[in-house]
Amino acid sequence: MKYALIGCGRVAPSHIKAAKENGFDIVAVCDIVDGNIDEMFARSVLTPQEYAPVRRYTDYREMLDAERLELVSIALPSYLHAEAALEVIGREINVIIEKPMAMSMADADKIVEAADRTGVAVCACHQNRFNKAVQEMRAALESGRFGRLSHGAVTVRWSRDAAYYAQADWRGKWACDGGTLMNQCIHGIDLLRWMCGDELVKVYGVTRRAFHDYIEAEDIGAAVLEFANGAVATVEGTVNLADDDLEEHLSLFGENGSVKLGGTSANAIEYWHFKDAPQETKDGFHEKTLNVYGNGHTSLFRDVADAVAQHRAPYVDARAGRRALETVLAIYQSSFTGRPVTLPLGDVASKDFEGFFDRDL
Ligand SMILES: NC(=O)c1ccc[n+]([C@@H]2O[C@H](COP(=O)([O-])OP(=O)(O)OC[C@H]3O[C@@H](n4cnc5c(N)ncnc54)[C@H](O)[C@@H]3O)[C@@H](O)[C@H]2O)c1
Repeated sequence: MKYALIGCGRVAPSHIKAAKENGFDIVAVCDIVDGNIDEMFARSVLTPQEYAPVRRYTDYREMLDAERLELVSIALPSYLHAEAALEVIGREINVIIEKPMAMSMADADKIVEAADRTGVAVCACHQNRFNKAVQEMRAALESGRFGRLSHGAVTVRWSRDAAYYAQADWRGKWACDGGTLMNQCIHGIDLLRWMCGDELVKVYGVTRRAFHDYIEAEDIGAAVLEFANGAVATVEGTVNLADDDLEEHLSLFGENGSVKLGGTSANAIEYWHFKDAPQETKDGFHEKTLNVYGNGHTSLFRDVADAVAQHRAPYVDARAGRRALETVLAIYQSSFTGRPVTLPLGDVASKDFEGFFDRDL
């Protein structure tokens, strides 16, 4: 698979690792700052001999026109995802788009429409769906072991300090990044909505900027979600922990089973109990990870290659990316208006909330 990467910042080495581990032909990379490409390669799994022949670009349109690519992954700042994705899909090249897939419902709709129109594989990079623990929970759900769902919960309790936000101008800004729900917690929110049946009908949200007054958007968000199947779910997401990342946990409770996943990114099974097999234990599901990005990129990239070969949609497709974005924007909207939001969400964008925490609450 002839592959190229757009955006060579913090997360980019995970993309290169996933591409290498899947045996892709890494033909080109692009970053507007050429020096970032050197730094990224130095942090990557590639040896100098392996990355020397990779062609470098500072303009991704030029790269897309010059190279014969089969797959591109986009690891640009979040506000640039949609524009770049539409350029890639418009050239009928398969694409993996980092989360959030877009920053507005209008842009997410354009990506879904372009994916449908062209038939190329469009994947939203919610790699935690491939965590072994998450896959185990999902298998139990799909085989009906939970029975009727009562509720689910996600908590993302991480720490991000001033140095993190100072790394780049776009971080923490409503139009470019959003706050912790849009950036750090969207993976957990994606998992929660997916496990609770996707059909989200109502959202009650409260967000605050408690400690990070140098960013625009929220550093703590809480929400209650109501699903069409009767399940309710809660979200607690924050970067306000004093020192270190504590956990990303995901729980699901049904009439016949209870499961709690933990670790720093839903990468371990902490509790597993089903009425049909009370003695069942789940060992070996605690995946070791280098960082909170987890190990899922490699499996997600493999799935997209398989999807292309098998002419099917990726496991995490553009509609999934749209649903995760919609959930976050609905929480923002509810917090902003002080009222619950009924879905489907209209034409809402993260930038609509500019100035939110600068007004009197
Ligand atoms: N899936 C995950 O677990 C995960 C983890 C971290 C980040 N992310 C997402 O990945 C994206 C990138 O995050 P990051 O932390 O690597 O950001 P970053 O700021 O470290 O890197 C972005 C890179 O894009 C480059 N860039 C900016 N504009 C460009 C343009 N027009 N053309 C080419 N290159 C350009 C920058 O120079 C920079 O090197 C974000 O959307 C973020 O939310 C996802």
